[in-house]
Amino acid sequence: MYVTHTPDTRRRLTPEHEQIVRDTLPVIGANINDITPVFYRTMFGKHPELISDLFNRGNQKDGDQQKALAASIAVFATMLVDPDAPDPLEMLARIGHKHVSLGITRDQYQIVHDNLFAAIVEVLGEAITPEVAAAWDEVYWIMADCLIEYEASLYASAGVAEGDVFRTATLTHREELPGGAIALTITGGLAEPLPGQYTSIGVRLPDGARQLRQYSIIGGDATTWQLALDVTGEVSSYLAAAEIGSTVDATLPAGDLVLRADSNRDIVLISSGIGVTPMLGILNHLAAEQSPRTVTSWHVDADAEHDALAAHRAAALEQLAHAKGANIYRADGGRLELGAGCGCGGGCASTLAGAEVYLCGGTGFLQNVREQIAALPADAQPAAVYYELFSPNDWLIR
Ligand SMILES: Cc1cc2nc3c(=O)[nH]c(=O)nc-3n(C[C@H](O)[C@H](O)[C@H](O)COP(=O)(O)OP(=O)(O)OC[C@H]3O[C@@H](n4cnc5c(N)ncnc54)[C@H](O)[C@@H]3O)c2cc1C
Ligand code: HEM
Repeated sequence: MYVTHTPDTRRRLTPEHEQIVRDTLPVIGANINDITPVFYRTMFGKHPELISDLFNRGNQKDGDQQKALAASIAVFATMLVDPDAPDPLEMLARIGHKHVSLGITRDQYQIVHDNLFAAIVEVLGEAITPEVAAAWDEVYWIMADCLIEYEASLYASAGVAEGDVFRTATLTHREELPGGAIALTITGGLAEPLPGQYTSIGVRLPDGARQLRQYSIIGGDATTWQLALDVTGEVSSYLAAAEIGSTVDATLPAGDLVLRADSNRDIVLISSGIGVTPMLGILNHLAAEQSPRTVTSWHVDADAEHDALAAHRAAALEQLAHAKGANIYRADGGRLELGAGCGCGGGCASTLAGAEVYLCGGTGFLQNVREQIAALPADAQPAAVYYELFSPNDWLIR
């Protein structure tokens, strides 16, 4: 599922609601991190199937999803009342892709609405007059409609009915990778992924919950996908132990970190840890089509023993006519410093200048690399930076 247009954020509040939202944004903003836990508690109390079978219960435990939801609403409301606030297009596209990778449908927005507003009233009490409620209702539905419309276009891009993204796939191969990671092959009536996209894999856990997690597709076609995962928590451990021949749910490919195939620019792939998987999806695609583009891979990891996909990366780079790679290991004192001269241990300004950068890794790594890119002189600036990250997050969308 992929579209080239961005979400449509042109709709505005009615003038009287705009003033009320401007006046009440500070109080709602200050309390939003108290509102979202109440919202999720209420919603999951009434709809236990949502936490069991749709939401990532790991993200609920550590509160990341709650913070991401709160931040996204605050960012959107700010955009509606502050003409100088940036248009949060990246944020909305990211949410939209995540939603379609989970088969979210428009009718579910009413459930979120009702429970969110019940939580706002529970936390803020009398401050929520009927006028304030009506103004924030309009904020919610402008944001919801923007997402619903974008998500409808993503479903349409795959020619499927809204929500019809779940396919059954068979686990056909598993391979151990360095550092305890695993590579999996799944087969079924899937769909051709764009290089860099991910799928949501759903498994039925021993307590009966069907939990979904996203995994980037490192290679494949319309029937067979390769995935690579660090074995960390409940779903990855389940997949590490599942019998070959057993089935899993797999959703149609989603995600907007995709190789811009219509460009001739140089490509720089920057990753850390298991964040290398979308980069490998891109690299494998470029290798398979014998791309003439100049490709550079800079990968950061704890050490060589934990670099799960070093061999896969090297094999793909070798097949390309204009490619180079640098592996930077923290155990050797390595650090990715952007803007240095060409050693080439990675990070050189001449490689970045005018290139397309694709970036994926842990939150701290992404934040740091983005700051380093922003600090580069004008003549070393890349033409574009696309990124993916593996956990819900609130700093990128500010
Ligand atoms: C777009 C996208 C693409 C992704 N692509 C990939 C990919 O290609 N490969 C990949 O490996 N991952 C990928 N991920 C991450 C993946 O979706 C999962 O988040 C990851 O596999 C962990 O899921 P889990 O169920 O195994 O762990 P969970 O059970 O959800 O646990 C999450 C984390 O919490 C920790 N944890 C759990 N219980 C405890 C505890 N009791 N005490 C302390 N810590 C605990 C775990 O160690 C783990 O790190 C991607 C995520 C996104 C959003
Ligand atoms: C205006 C309404 C909504 C907003 C603002 C919103 C916002 C968000 C945000 C910010 C994320 C995190 C994205 C990321 O990974 O970075 C997210 C994920 C998600 N949303 Fe929504 N959402 C809305 C409606 C819905 C609806 C109607 C549902 C269905 C019940 C839903 C279900 C989910 C699920 C299951 C996830 C993934 C959670 C996880 O993996 O932890 N959302 N949403």
